[in-house]
Amino acid sequence: MTSRVLLVCLGNICRSPTAEGVLRALAAREFAALDLEFDSAGTANYHVGEPPDRRTVAAARRRGYEIAGLRARQVNPADLERFDYVLAMDRANLDELRSLDELRRRGRATTRAHLGLFLEYAPECGTDEVPDPYHGGQEAFERVLDLCEAGARGLLRRLSAGGRT
Ligand code: 4NP
Repeated sequence: MTSRVLLVCLGNICRSPTAEGVLRALAAREFAALDLEFDSAGTANYHVGEPPDRRTVAAARRRGYEIAGLRARQVNPADLERFDYVLAMDRANLDELRSLDELRRRGRATTRAHLGLFLEYAPECGTDEVPDPYHGGQEAFERVLDLCEAGARGLLRRLSAGGRT
């Protein structure tokens, strides 16, 4: 059975496309037996239709991940039914997802997804948030990649061990 994973940040041009690109690459390289689908989205609509930030694309490329073809979209209520895991990059993003979930439940819609933080799967990082690099320097983008690689590896290990707890 396919497991569908949606990564969510604010703009969908820095952190969540990075996580999506890293997950796709690691899944193909090291977890090819798993049946997985990945996507990413932003809680805001500022950058809908745009490719990832050029600094994000460059940082990812330096580590061998190609993400220039991705395009930003905004998360929508149906995503909570369509995906098995909807994983936020920080707590503000997770709060937005919970609000969306609350609205759905009031409309009697069901939610299938596990809502959580991406870094739940990488406790060794010592943080459960991927910081927004948008106003930072190159080191901020490198940090996003470090955290996304750890989160991706942890999530893929969990999925290969049977998935949701
Ligand atoms: P992201 O980073 O949430 O990781 O995509 C940001 C991108 C754009 C903005 C903020 C954060 N912005 O304010 O435009």
